[in-house]
Amino acid sequence: MPVKLSFTLNGRPVSAEVEPTMALLELLRERFDLTGAKLGCGEGECGACAVLLDEEAVLGCLTPAFAVDGRTVRTVEGLSSSEGLSALQQAFVSEGAIQCGFCTPGMEIAAASLLRQEPRPTPEQIRRGLEGNLCRCTGYVAMIEAVEAVNDD
Ligand code: FES
Ligand code: FES
Repeated sequence: MPVKLSFTLNGRPVSAEVEPTMALLELLRERFDLTGAKLGCGEGECGACAVLLDEEAVLGCLTPAFAVDGRTVRTVEGLSSSEGLSALQQAFVSEGAIQCGFCTPGMEIAAASLLRQEPRPTPEQIRRGLEGNLCRCTGYVAMIEAVEAVNDD
């Protein structure tokens, strides 16, 4: 039986009716056209589907859509503003932390979640904050440097 949801998505109130089996990632991509979060493994292993739920990173492929009722969801699209990319996103660009870009939304969400909990993380804390996110192209050094560069702002 469908479930009715109301939640805040990237700063605006929205509602939807979903099947109990629908994943949050599918809700965001199929119903709201927010295609930044990606379907990678679909099994909780790669982090490509990460979004912020009440400002903490969760895996969209494993989180049921109904779990967001009454809560706040932010996707990678919601990290930027009408003024452009966030400082974190800009750092990913300037540090060369993006190649194909498939992992980038999940990486930026994981980093945003980390920076919210720990505004000045050490390199070790950054490594641990990003360890659930896999990248097949770039390697992780530039990403760690990008998150560190936000520290220096
Ligand atoms: S698609 Fe969700 S963790 Fe890989
Ligand atoms: S930049 Fe291609 S998977 Fe990370």
